[in-house]
Amino acid sequence: MNVTPELDLTIGYINQRIDPSVNLHAEIERLKKEKNAVLLAHYYQEPEIQDMADYIGDSLGLARKAAETSADIIVFAGVHFMAETAKILNPNKKVLLPDLNAGCSLADACPADEFEVFKAAHPGHIVISYINCSAATKAQSDIICTSSNAEHIVSQIPADQPIIFAPDRNLGGYINRKLGRNMVLWDGVCIVHQTFSEQKLVRLKARYEGVPVLAHPECDAPILRHADFIGSTSQIRSYAVTSNHDLFIVATEEGILHQMQKDSPNKSFIPAPPESGCNCSQCPHMRLNTVEKLYLCLLHELPEITMDEGIRIKALAPINRMLEMSKSIA
Ligand code: 13P
Ligand code: SF4
Repeated sequence: MNVTPELDLTIGYINQRIDPSVNLHAEIERLKKEKNAVLLAHYYQEPEIQDMADYIGDSLGLARKAAETSADIIVFAGVHFMAETAKILNPNKKVLLPDLNAGCSLADACPADEFEVFKAAHPGHIVISYINCSAATKAQSDIICTSSNAEHIVSQIPADQPIIFAPDRNLGGYINRKLGRNMVLWDGVCIVHQTFSEQKLVRLKARYEGVPVLAHPECDAPILRHADFIGSTSQIRSYAVTSNHDLFIVATEEGILHQMQKDSPNKSFIPAPPESGCNCSQCPHMRLNTVEKLYLCLLHELPEITMDEGIRIKALAPINRMLEMSKSIA
């Protein structure tokens, strides 16, 4: 039975029956052209969506693309904070997210009202927030960073300047150790990167002696201790391309393996094992987006990201500061 898009939006996406004979790939391509829409996708999307994207990248790359696009519509195959960032940068464009419930455990861990209280308890600190947070939390920040530029940005802040780093305690802790800083950390984690098992990783390393471990800095310290390379998704991808090795253990959401395998068909990749035998290395938020939801979202131009203009303007300043401070990073 067909239901109206308006009704379906109460569940965060359009739940309309699609005739199985419709060629979704061809329709998505046609709608993109017809509506002058660009499809931006993160590596943690299902491979089928990645293959349809006009641009695929890490959070910094996606923010940069969103800032420079001339499209009228941005369809974000990613999570809510990413689409929100695109909207903050493009108030006059329509920004669509196939499923509005595609959130992020880090963003959820840092509600803006609680963050305000935390900030008040730390006077004299500047606030550097990881891009994985809501627009309202960004609006309370001085500088935004991503996993690919966090070190670069923190290293530009004078050593005697106290810093609050939110919301990822793992990324913040990693930067603290790397740069010898003592940033005050908000206690948030990514549910995906937090579940890798150190014990299983050690066993895997013993079995595949000499195989490099590539890890995302959202992993906690015991995992990062065993890593040969730590970087954002795009940095992990590039590392594997240029490395002389032909086998890698990869500690991040397993969607990245699709591009890594396409880049290097003759190399092999072993996903780092999570604690239990679950699908925990797939982000349950990212995976809410499906090809069907993507098609319906483009067709109806819903669900759309909207936000309070006052918050948008306040959130724009720290994002622009990040883009400015990380100009020299590829
Ligand atoms: P990057 O792609 O920027 O490394 O971020 C990973 C992530 O968890 C996005 O939510
Ligand atoms: Fe958030 Fe983790 Fe999912 Fe990235 S992988 S969107 S940090 S929950």
